[in-house]
Amino acid sequence: MNKTLSIVAVATACAALTSWAGEARGKGGAVASRSPLATEVGVDVLRRGGNAVDAAVAVGFALAVTHPSAGNLGGGGFMVIRLANGDIVANDHREKAPAQAHRDMFLDGEGNVVPGRSTASHLAAGVPGTVDGLLTVLARHGTLSPREVIEPALRLAKEGFALPADIAAQFAGYRDAFAPYPASRAKFARPDGSAYVAGDLFRQPDLAATLERIAEHGRDGFYTGRTADLLVAEMARGGGLISHTDLEDYRSVWREPVHGTYRGYDVVSMPPPSSGGALVVQILNMLERHDVGSMGHGSAAVAHLMIEAERRAYADRAEHLGDTDFYDVPLAMLVAKNYARHRFADFDPHVASKSADVGAGDWLEESPETTHVSVMDAAGNAVAYTTTLNLGYGAKIVVPGAGFLLNNEMDDFSSKPNTPNSFGLIGGEANAIEPGKRMLSSMSPTLVLQDGEPVLVTGSPGGSTIITTVLQVIVNVVDHGMNVGQAVAAPRFHHQWLPDRIRYEPGAMPTQTLATLRSMGHVGLQQTGSIGDANSVMRVGGVFVAVSDPRNAGGAGGF
Ligand code: DON
Repeated sequence: MNKTLSIVAVATACAALTSWAGEARGKGGAVASRSPLATEVGVDVLRRGGNAVDAAVAVGFALAVTHPSAGNLGGGGFMVIRLANGDIVANDHREKAPAQAHRDMFLDGEGNVVPGRSTASHLAAGVPGTVDGLLTVLARHGTLSPREVIEPALRLAKEGFALPADIAAQFAGYRDAFAPYPASRAKFARPDGSAYVAGDLFRQPDLAATLERIAEHGRDGFYTGRTADLLVAEMARGGGLISHTDLEDYRSVWREPVHGTYRGYDVVSMPPPSSGGALVVQILNMLERHDVGSMGHGSAAVAHLMIEAERRAYADRAEHLGDTDFYDVPLAMLVAKNYARHRFADFDPHVASKSADVGAGDWLEESPETTHVSVMDAAGNAVAYTTTLNLGYGAKIVVPGAGFLLNNEMDDFSSKPNTPNSFGLIGGEANAIEPGKRMLSSMSPTLVLQDGEPVLVTGSPGGSTIITTVLQVIVNVVDHGMNVGQAVAAPRFHHQWLPDRIRYEPGAMPTQTLATLRSMGHVGLQQTGSIGDANSVMRVGGVFVAVSDPRNAGGAGGF
């Protein structure tokens, strides 16, 4: 499609859009996140002259307070940043396996995976990366001090905020999971032990104290001293592996972003240890040779095309992707246009192929509890930031005295070859557990550029569905001419090779499309709850349009 034309189409569609609470516009900059309070923090930073990096970092710290299921100090994330000078960089602050971790740590004596050990135990926690990542990004590309970007989060933790209904309901929903851990019980229930309800003031004094130590001492306020002592003491209490040395040694890493092109746009996203960028680019490469736009959104032809591309890309993920510091990932091959041509050569527009019938497993039916933030500013900085504890509320273990949750990211490793993890994803050698290694992710913070200028910032939670969510937002804008609000709101579907099943949101598959897909041989068509939470920002001319995904009660802000 002609680039200029498509942007004109987008601009026209934007003008026609009726606004909902989750959409905001501004000429100075814009922020979209899962938390209205955190978005407000970000917009405020921009308004006071901070750049998009300052804002994203401030939102990151705020989410640890206002969106505790996924915002975190005890987890990890990825940030892809386009700087005003045109450089694009990626910060990897993914958790690492502790030095004492070993390949078979989640297996029993017979070599079987022990249910729950990689998700609901102290062993589930990787060495947290978020604090080092956010502070490193700030120091290199921000303009404010750590205290300035942490202060709003600190205030929200110390003074408290009125609990939104959805978060109060989550606390109640996770009550049993928190029960074994006194600090978790105490944090997520009222002081008298009864359940919080919407509107209650939610104060987090231990978390405020940890934030204060970070504001005061930088990374040392988390990785050494009292915070580290508290975390290591909890590991000793619960049989976890994270040591003082693991914490002291943790460093975020600057990585070369994955770069692809799609119909004249540049697509820049996260490289390993995420599989996200590689798969988004690989799938787009497979789609590019087909006229997706004229096939029409919601058509069987487009669904079939995308499913077949996804099937092949996710099979490659299982075989080839892991932490490049430990495993030789053929990244250049996977994102090359000619590889996509070769890999997709057996695509038949009329017949579904079959995923191998091995290792298939169920994926977890869980609300999307990772979280994505998009920020753009008028100077030309753009930040895509995805952060997580893995599953909602991570390992459900609050570090006593420190007020933050431990992640359960170790489940993203392949505990045993061909045995699915919580997202039904399988893997082998490339993603086997090794001391110090980063577990493979699907998080895909992504920037789309036109003529070198950022036009779209997007990303999502949703485990394995992150990749296909980001893909659909991009395809909706580029191929289907939707504005960003429509592109984010449009119902989604997902296929990941194994299990050989197509999940789709209500409305994503018109009756005729379902019938046609079945007649082509597609199996396992399954309507599901919502997929993803793609808080996104798009620049249309000189205006930034922020959209918080209408699937959740997030917040969009601009000024
Ligand atoms: O890094 C990953 O791919 C996962 N840990 C993300 C987890 C997630 O999105 C949770 N949402 N359902």
